[in-house]
Amino acid sequence: SHPIRIAPSILAADFANFGAECRAAEDAGADWIHVDVMDGHFVPNLTFGPAMCKALRPHIRGTMDVHLMIAPVDPYIQAFADAGADVLTAHVEAGPHIHRTLQAIRAAGVKAGVALNPGTPASAAQPLLDMVDLICVMTVNPGFGGQSFIASQLQTIRDVKAMIGDRPIHIEVDGGVDTKTAPDVARAGADVLVAGSAVFRGGSVEAPDAYGANIVAI
Ligand code: DX5
Ligand code: ZN
Repeated sequence: SHPIRIAPSILAADFANFGAECRAAEDAGADWIHVDVMDGHFVPNLTFGPAMCKALRPHIRGTMDVHLMIAPVDPYIQAFADAGADVLTAHVEAGPHIHRTLQAIRAAGVKAGVALNPGTPASAAQPLLDMVDLICVMTVNPGFGGQSFIASQLQTIRDVKAMIGDRPIHIEVDGGVDTKTAPDVARAGADVLVAGSAVFRGGSVEAPDAYGANIVAI
């Protein structure tokens, strides 16, 4: 199993100071930097694309974890790979060909992730277990930071954990993770905790020492 990692989402950072915000997050102990890409179509919000990721790359020492909330995905994979993404996560709901998408991500030399919306069962990832390095369980409906954690998704995390067995697949949890929810999320089996507002809006994220999580607050 993996040590717990905290992945601050720059969706909650100062949009005029992303470089400094990424450095501050890493200096505070962040392991990964989570970049939320939204297209105003798959989700009802717009953020940034590959050019922004490329500009960010020199400001991130560790893992650039890019969460693609876009449809279609395939036309943009190479651009995000060229921008220096270490992980590219696509949604199982984003189109009819998630398997092809994951193949293309790996063919581009990038770790492949699949994300599951709150309305999607863990079993949707079952046929993809040999195709993925990460499964992201959404604990909010994607589109916006600062939403409340959907506690019923703890069962989906447990289901994913049981399903992956001893495969070396990260379980990432995204949405509403803060000091209150992080311990439950870690206990359910997640090892990558995305946190936006809790990190960049004055709060903090921690999981009990037993789970080895860093504490990050900026
Ligand atoms: C939601 C994004 C999340 C979000 C998390 O669509 O995928 O990464 O930024 O933000 P918080 O931690 O504020 O829920
Ligand atoms: Zn995200």
